[in-house]
Amino acid sequence: MSTTEPYQVKKFNLSALKGISDQTLEMHFKLYEGYVKNTNQLTEEISGLIKGGKVEQEEMPMYSELKRRLGFEYNGMVLHEYYFGNLMKNGGGEPRPSSSLRSAIEDSFGSFEIWKADFASVGKMRGVGWAICYQDPLTQKLSNHWTSLHEVGNVAGFVPVLVMDVWEHAFLLDYQPSERGKYIEAFFSNMNWTVVEERLGGTLVRAQNV
Ligand SMILES: [Fe+2]
Repeated sequence: MSTTEPYQVKKFNLSALKGISDQTLEMHFKLYEGYVKNTNQLTEEISGLIKGGKVEQEEMPMYSELKRRLGFEYNGMVLHEYYFGNLMKNGGGEPRPSSSLRSAIEDSFGSFEIWKADFASVGKMRGVGWAICYQDPLTQKLSNHWTSLHEVGNVAGFVPVLVMDVWEHAFLLDYQPSERGKYIEAFFSNMNWTVVEERLGGTLVRAQNV
């Protein structure tokens, strides 16, 4: 038995985005729900294996595999909540001049344009994964990173402030595989910069139910 409450699927009101169809979003929400379900299920199964205070030797291979999968499922759940949470209907544009987000970007990269070019280029890297802009809680600096699958490349302790899914399921119903750049521009045209700014300092939860 797990001693913690299971995670609940969060709802996101994202219909009528620009360049990302409702059909894509519906399919994507279902995939996200699978990560929530699997995170809860794995947590439950692992709790069952350790309920006696130790893992029996014959159960160790199963325990190891469940733990390995837990990182994949957990990050899949969390990153999708960041991703959907930084999109909005009627979003887009750029961070406001002299806003704290704009200042953080300019302090870290010199200009918004250089930061955006770096972030978009991370998103165009070959393979499936995520482009993530993190804030270092120690220096307050922002940096852009590539995360393979869901769990390889996350920077420990850094706060995700902007998260972009570049698995092909995020855009393949709307664009050709070779058109990832068009999807990335569509992603930016739906950006909720207010949420991104509120994530600075690590004070905003990664997603809120709507
Ligand atoms: Fe995804």
